[in-house]
Amino acid sequence: MLLEVSNVSVWYDKAMLINNVSMGVDQGELVSLVGPNGAGKSTLLRTITGLVAWEKDLTKRSSHGEIKLEGQITFDGERIEKVPAHEIVRRGLILAPERRRPFKEMTVIDNLMVGAYLIRDKANIEENLEKVYQLFPVLKDRSHQISGTLSGGEQQMLAVGRALMSNPKLLCIDEPSTGLAPMLRAEVFQRIKEISSLGITVLLVEQEVTTVFKMATRNYVLSAGKIIAEGKGDKLLENELLRKTYLGM
Ligand SMILES: Nc1ncnc2c1ncn2[C@@H]1O[C@H](COP(=O)(O)OP(=O)(O)O)[C@@H](O)[C@H]1O
Ligand SMILES: [Mg+2]
Repeated sequence: MLLEVSNVSVWYDKAMLINNVSMGVDQGELVSLVGPNGAGKSTLLRTITGLVAWEKDLTKRSSHGEIKLEGQITFDGERIEKVPAHEIVRRGLILAPERRRPFKEMTVIDNLMVGAYLIRDKANIEENLEKVYQLFPVLKDRSHQISGTLSGGEQQMLAVGRALMSNPKLLCIDEPSTGLAPMLRAEVFQRIKEISSLGITVLLVEQEVTTVFKMATRNYVLSAGKIIAEGKGDKLLENELLRKTYLGM
C-alpha cells in the first residue's frame, strides 16, 4: 500500500473526531472517502497530511483545548505520523484543501508556482505547468488574473492545479465539487478522472456519492469518525441500510 492508516484516533478536547480508523490507498488507485457532513472526512485528510499534528503543536502553547493523536500512518514505506507537514509535502503526499483556498491576492500563475516551490528542476516545473494547463485550459487563459477574481469553479481548479505542480505521489482532494453548479461539477469530476489516468494516485473526499462511486476503484464510508463500510461502489449501493442511513439516498 502507498498509504496505510492503522488504528488512527484524533481527539479535540473530549470530542473523538476520528475513531480508530484503518484504511489504505494502493499505488494507482482512485479511492473515495464519503460520509455525511461532520463525519470527520476533512479531519482525516488533515491528519494524514500532518496538519492536525501541526495544529496540535501550535495550540500546545495556547489556551486552546488539547488535541490528541493515536495510531500509525505509513506512506511510501515510511512512518509519517510524527513527520512535520512540510516534510510530508516534500515526500509527495499533497492535500488540495476544501473550500478552494488559493492565495486570493496572487495571480493564477504565481499560485501555481507556489505549488512547485520545492522543485529545483526548471524543466520539471515547465512540464508540470503544461500538464496543468492542458487539464485546465481556463487557468492558462487567466494566468495573469488575480486569483480572488476567478469564479468558484475556476478557484477550485486552481487549488487542484496548484497541488499538481508539486509532483504528488498521492493527491488528496477535499470536496472539489461542493458549491459548484452541476455543469462545473461534471467538469471537475472529468478532470479528476484524467488526473487519475495520468497515473497519479488519488484519495477523493466528496459528497456526490453516485458520481464518485462510479469512478473510484474503492470507497470508504465514514460516519461519526468511524469507517462503517468499505468496498466497490455497486456493492455498497446494494446495501439499503447504508444507502438510506449514511448516504442519504
Ligand atoms: N479544529 C476543530 N476543533 C474542534 N472541532 C472540530 C475542529 N475541526 C472540526 N471539528 C469538528 O469535527 C467534526 C468533523 O469535522 P470535519 O472533519 O470537518 O467533517 P467533514 O469534513 O466530514 O464534514 C465536526 O463535528 C466538526 O465540528
Ligand atoms: Mg469537510
